Amino acid sequence: MVNPIKGLVLAGGTGTRLRPITHTSAKQLVPLANKPILFYGLESLANAGVTEIAMIVGDTREEVMAAVGDGSLFGLKVTYIHQEKPLGLAHCVLMARDILADSDFIMYLGDNFIRDGVESFVESFSYRTDGTNAQILLARVPDPQRFGVATLDNEGNVVYLVEKPKDPKSNLALVGVYLFDSSIHEAVKSIVPSARGELEITDAIQWLINNGKKVKAHIVEGYWKDLGEPEALLEGNRLVLESIERSIKGNVDESSTLDGRVVLEAGAAVVRSIIRGPAVIGKDAVITDSFIGPFTSVAANCVIESSEVEHSIILNGSRITNIHRLEGSIIGKSVVVAKTERRPLATRLVVGDHSRIDLV
Ligand code: G1P
Repeated sequence: MVNPIKGLVLAGGTGTRLRPITHTSAKQLVPLANKPILFYGLESLANAGVTEIAMIVGDTREEVMAAVGDGSLFGLKVTYIHQEKPLGLAHCVLMARDILADSDFIMYLGDNFIRDGVESFVESFSYRTDGTNAQILLARVPDPQRFGVATLDNEGNVVYLVEKPKDPKSNLALVGVYLFDSSIHEAVKSIVPSARGELEITDAIQWLINNGKKVKAHIVEGYWKDLGEPEALLEGNRLVLESIERSIKGNVDESSTLDGRVVLEAGAAVVRSIIRGPAVIGKDAVITDSFIGPFTSVAANCVIESSEVEHSIILNGSRITNIHRLEGSIIGKSVVVAKTERRPLATRLVVGDHSRIDLV
């Protein structure tokens, strides 16, 4: 019987690249197909047999704690740790020392989405017999300078790691999922803050390598995304929607059509409209005289009337009226987007900080 692996989930940070959505919402709680990104991670940890989680939270902790609760929704026991300043991923390991004790653990960055989950990764680490001290996940990316980057030797062992290099030596980016044994605790105590003032987990792993520990890499062939940017969110949303099953719980009138894989949650209503899947319409949303195209997630309590929406994410309680046509868009909570006949005929905007508007 192997010791159960614990989880260290990072759900702090400010999400600056996802503004304005993250002005009011934690980046880990932005939904894909109406389910927060973080929930996909927690479900995959539970599926991998993890039961005990330390979750690092920051300024958005109230919202994260309200959404995740004690973790029982996922079959997990979650203990929260408040990190007052973003002092780095390795600092999170320091903070969770007591909960992690000397167990093996998986560190999971809450804004990372791995379509195929982490089960096989956790299993191979749990049953290792070769004395591996840490296992990292890597993915080939076109823009490695945005990530931690690894260099491997001919046998696939990790020899060198560097955080966000200007001149990357490979296209292998560190995915935000790491497996460690207890030797990482000495590493995080031994490193110093980087130029950006953070204790980098990348430096801690390099410390393991420099001190004769065995660090193995696993290359993720399935889809992985660090959902830190709007385009990545739309892509992640599309990917999740690609695998949904049709389920109609809401009401559809006789002159509406629901094509293909559509999820219509309870209390939602579709009136004189066409919904072409894959698409998700949240609880109590109302769609009237509209077309909802593929790869669209409409959250609970939205109202869409006389509009066409495609390949978009619309968050809770927003209203879209007389818009032809909304595409590739992310609309926050309780937003109103409407075309009016009011004179003078002009574009009138009340838009929050860091918003982006493309007009035609
Ligand atoms: C962090 C890590 C980086 C990794 C990335 C994956 O970067 O420092 O090595 O590649 O997560 O999401 P950050 O998101 O903190 O910039």
